[in-house]
Amino acid sequence: MNHIQGDLIYEGKAKRIYTTKNPDEVLVEFKNDATAFNAKKHSKIDGKGRLNCLISVALFKLLETSGIKTHFLELQSETLFLAKKITIIPLEVVIRNVATGSLCRETPIIEGTKLDPPLLDLYYKDDELGDPILTEARIKLLDFIDDLHLQEIEKIAREVNLILVKYFFLLDLSLVDFKLEFGFDVDGNLIVADEISPDNCRLWDRTKSDPKDRILDKDRFRQDLGGVIDAYGEILKRIQGNSRKAT
Ligand code: TMP
Ligand code: ASP
Repeated sequence: MNHIQGDLIYEGKAKRIYTTKNPDEVLVEFKNDATAFNAKKHSKIDGKGRLNCLISVALFKLLETSGIKTHFLELQSETLFLAKKITIIPLEVVIRNVATGSLCRETPIIEGTKLDPPLLDLYYKDDELGDPILTEARIKLLDFIDDLHLQEIEKIAREVNLILVKYFFLLDLSLVDFKLEFGFDVDGNLIVADEISPDNCRLWDRTKSDPKDRILDKDRFRQDLGGVIDAYGEILKRIQGNSRKAT
């Protein structure tokens, strides 16, 4: 069934956003497109949109039950959810529990080093600029977010990390790092937005020691390892297995 009746407001690399009859709500549709390296690498992977939508919804529900406000309202179909309309803040908030990825490319830190406390990196969300890393001074200079809201964003991001690390540990998954986006809802509340899926998290299978076999996230696509859908499907399977155990 097609639940989309509104107009397309925005099309990103992995999602489309539509209006609804309610001006304070939007529909978020997940696409099968896979991109990496600022869309220099692009492909379509059948079934990816469905898996990312269902994984994101499960994680948003988990955060909501833990007292974290998110934009998620209601699942409409397996690739579509209703969300609060927000004004997105042009920040990509990355939390790293283990050193890998750009941190190891850009600094001499050894791959696999445990980061305690977790490292929080801020990037300016702008595809044309390639999402550059921000410093405190650059944030002040650009003046798109005030100090108090930034402190609140960092506090929420660290809380989200604690919740997700514990949750994934119970599923035999290690949350290596992930990216969050935030926005303001129509009442001015700061809320977690976008998606939380293997497209923007690194998740390693704790039951495997092989450094390639254990990867269950978008690095399989970035590094041409294959098996993207099997990996994302394995994450959803463990999440669903867990919720069945809880009920
Ligand atoms: P990085 O190691 O490439 O900086 O990525 C850190 C985390 O952020 C990783 O879990 C993937 C996620 N991420 C995004 O969601 N979007 C992006 O554009 C980038 C570069 C990373
Ligand atoms: N999200 C970015 C892109 O689509 C980068 C990445 O995830 O590697 O190009």
